[in-house]
Amino acid sequence: MDVFLVLLLLSAFCVPTASFPNIYYFVNENMTWDEANAYCIKEYLGLAQITYPENNTALVNTPAGVYTGKAWIGLHIDVGWAWLDGRPPTYYSWSPGQPLNTGPGYCVFTNYRGWYSVKCTEMLGFICFDGSDYIVNNTYVTWNEAKISCKNKNSTLAQILDVETFDKVRRVVDKEKEIWIGLSFSPVWFWSETQQISTFMNWKTGQPNNEFHCAAILVGDGTWTTEPCIKQYPFFCYAVYKSKKTVVSMNIQTDVDLENPDNQAALMQQLQATLAKQGVTDFKVTWTKQPVQKSRKKLDDACLNV
Ligand SMILES: *[C@@H]1O[C@H](CO)[C@@H](O)[C@H](O)[C@H]1NC(C)=O
Ligand SMILES: *[C@@H]1O[C@H](CO)[C@@H](O)[C@H](O)[C@H]1NC(C)=O
Ligand SMILES: *[C@@H]1O[C@H](CO)[C@@H](O)[C@H](O)[C@H]1NC(C)=O
Ligand SMILES: *[C@@H]1O[C@H](CO)[C@@H](O)[C@H](O)[C@H]1NC(C)=O
Repeated sequence: MDVFLVLLLLSAFCVPTASFPNIYYFVNENMTWDEANAYCIKEYLGLAQITYPENNTALVNTPAGVYTGKAWIGLHIDVGWAWLDGRPPTYYSWSPGQPLNTGPGYCVFTNYRGWYSVKCTEMLGFICFDGSDYIVNNTYVTWNEAKISCKNKNSTLAQILDVETFDKVRRVVDKEKEIWIGLSFSPVWFWSETQQISTFMNWKTGQPNNEFHCAAILVGDGTWTTEPCIKQYPFFCYAVYKSKKTVVSMNIQTDVDLENPDNQAALMQQLQATLAKQGVTDFKVTWTKQPVQKSRKKLDDACLNV
């Protein structure tokens, strides 16, 4: 068998691609959420923030080698007043002196004047919103039962996001009646880097489990789960994409026949895998062949887009 040595010069020639969407970086090192957060802040901008569905797609398509398991993203939990859909209020209509009590286990009812904070286990009436109408139910139930009751009627415990909505609610509440609304002291999921509340969420069915305070993405299918923050996972960072021309030269010694396209492809794959392992995930590599030089069997060019 012919075994020969090939010296390769890969010189990268890079064309920044305008449509390059990917500014997520996969880091294949096991770290706790806090360690990963610190790493991403140091090396990039922060742990990955996912604002739109297309971001989630871009993130899971970030070359992560064969890794399909869980990886940290920048989502974590805090507690505060939150509507049922997870958003913190921007509008409040507390009665004077309210809220008297805040903390986990407290929920909000309204009468026709304003809002009160009481234990979620109190028994009160409630008000559902079915998409067009506000419907009061005067059966006395706990806040959780009210939530379920509305859901069973294909509606939600009313969220009062502005004064116009509160006016509509007041019109249907009997004087002196107290009714649950969809506000409680709850965990709120927000992004570590921007402190933005998460509006787009892609939880796996049955999630989030708010006992755990950090979120991971299952790279295999793009769904999110909550995890104890001290668990160790690889992670995704993100950064503002800047196209960058990088020239790389390398010498490769090999005894395979590089005229063979199969071998070329195999080498290319190895090169990509190696770069991916180093956290270089946004690149394209192509071959162009150059004339064989004296001291070399072959001289090739490759394009490396980083
Ligand atoms: C991370 O930890 C998992 C489970 O302990 C292990 O299977 C995996 O090889 C580790 N990955 C790295 C890059 O160390
Ligand atoms: C998320 O998607 C938006 C809209 O497509 C885009 O402008 C933004 O750059 C994306 N962010 C990341 C981190 O990819
Ligand atoms: C009011 O709520 C109770 C308790 O959930 C429920 O059984 C009943 O059907 C509700 N009434 C109406 C009119 O929705
Ligand atoms: C609930 O709402 C969905 C979607 O609007 C609708 O398809 C379904 O028929 C409704 N179910 C009931 C019991 O009203």
